[in-house]
Amino acid sequence: MRVAILGSGKGSNAAAILQAERDGALGAAHVVHIFADQPEVGILALGPRFGVPATFVDPAPFKTKLEGAGEERFIAAVRACEPDLVVLAGFMRVLKPGFLHAFDGKIINLHPSLLPAFPGLDGIGQALRAGVAETGCSVHRVTADVDAGEIIGQARVPIEAGETLESLAAKVHAAEHKLLPAVIAHLSHQRR
Ligand code: GAR
Repeated sequence: MRVAILGSGKGSNAAAILQAERDGALGAAHVVHIFADQPEVGILALGPRFGVPATFVDPAPFKTKLEGAGEERFIAAVRACEPDLVVLAGFMRVLKPGFLHAFDGKIINLHPSLLPAFPGLDGIGQALRAGVAETGCSVHRVTADVDAGEIIGQARVPIEAGETLESLAAKVHAAEHKLLPAVIAHLSHQRR
């Protein structure tokens, strides 16, 4: 199963996926390309580290969504690596019908909350401020409705007394780094 990863930032989840593949823990999945919508972000540095092509694709003209010329550039670039699965790992941009149709049914997203709770931006902060006893992370299929597609996997994280945004973020990220590679491995076995 050929996997393309799209991200916008640090790339700790992309690193977890690539490390899982290196460790033989990504099932029949193989990361073929990393794409970023920002030119100088950590996720792009993973390319040389793991021997995978890593490319900045210009997302202009929009700031928070992928539409118009930027969407066309992303569709062409991602299509060229012929992915069976497109993984959004911290890709901070709303996808529009052009990209969704180009990779219909093949796109999954990681979100830092137990969806359907706390969709959108800052899922970790939202949960902390709401005062709930637990949060977590979700991997779901991407549809036109933001953070609302079918949930494929979730991991729970308790929120303890005295929890700070930093301590909670560290726990959620640790859970994400296990969940996302496990879901990709699971999907790769389903395809066989
Ligand atoms: C992750 O926590 C992911 O859940 C979140 O961005 C972070 C990316 O971290 N995604 C969203 O909030 C999507 N709405 P990373 O760049 O270190 O993998």
